Amino acid sequence: MARGLLGIEPLSRAEIEALLERARHFQPQAEHGYPREETLRGKMIVNMFFEASTRTRTSFEIAARRLGAESVSITAAGSSVTKGESLVDTLNTLVAMRPNAIVMRHAASGAPHFLSRYLSTPIINAGDGTHEHPTQALLDARTILDRLGRLEGLRIAIIGDLAHSRVARSNIFLLSKFGVDLVLCGPPMFIPRELAEMAPGVRREFEIRKAIRGANVIMMLRVQLERLHEKAMASSEYFKYYGLRLEHLEHAAQDAIVLHPGPMNRGLEISSEVADSQRSMILNQVENGIPVRMAVLEKVLAT
Ligand code: NCD
Repeated sequence: MARGLLGIEPLSRAEIEALLERARHFQPQAEHGYPREETLRGKMIVNMFFEASTRTRTSFEIAARRLGAESVSITAAGSSVTKGESLVDTLNTLVAMRPNAIVMRHAASGAPHFLSRYLSTPIINAGDGTHEHPTQALLDARTILDRLGRLEGLRIAIIGDLAHSRVARSNIFLLSKFGVDLVLCGPPMFIPRELAEMAPGVRREFEIRKAIRGANVIMMLRVQLERLHEKAMASSEYFKYYGLRLEHLEHAAQDAIVLHPGPMNRGLEISSEVADSQRSMILNQVENGIPVRMAVLEKVLAT
């Protein structure tokens, strides 16, 4: 990782392993709570969120504080973006205030990559359009490792609207570097062939029961109602064919866990019984957002 973190795609397996190991070090300890460190004391991080966020923005802020850094957050709604300022001008304005890093979420795929060519300040991608969401894939991997102890050889089903999911893309990049048996599932309109061609050993499956058979990890993705309506699919129909319900879990591996990056739509892509079950790691994922983002901030800023 030269500067910043734009995506999982350019990272080597060793770089990912190092980040995941460091994140483990930052996880809370039973007696002592979260480790507090001062490694980033005196550093200033600007969080620039041009799109809505609950988990990602909050956990980046908390992660910065736990390392002794200061951070400020700006949202598009409260900024001059609403007055017609261009992306480059907004970012140049922020850079003139000399932050040490910019954490950025934007609706356009490739926006952070484009800016990183013009700015000398490191940029951490907190989600760009339908392209990548690297810290989400890292926290998903951390959560799987915590529970199952390995990635190699696992069967992982990713189910939902993969076509519009940056979470899916970052996860496919990451998991395929670790020899995972990956199955992508959803209605054909949401699972373009190109996704299965991103890496060897990735396959598509259009029936949820088949996708889940023997799976160790079931990763559910959010489905947007407007995307269903575009394709003339009713939400009840989506839930009937692709919504994850308790009965499906019988086909999964004994130790199977369920992930969802949130925000989830109960009764659309996942039933409440599954979301609140023992197998659900959804809040563990949220919790791991902090140590994983601490590891990323430290890597980008402490050098
Ligand atoms: C995801 C995102 O924004 O990409 N949410 C998140 O960061 N936890 C997933 C989503 O919005 O569906």
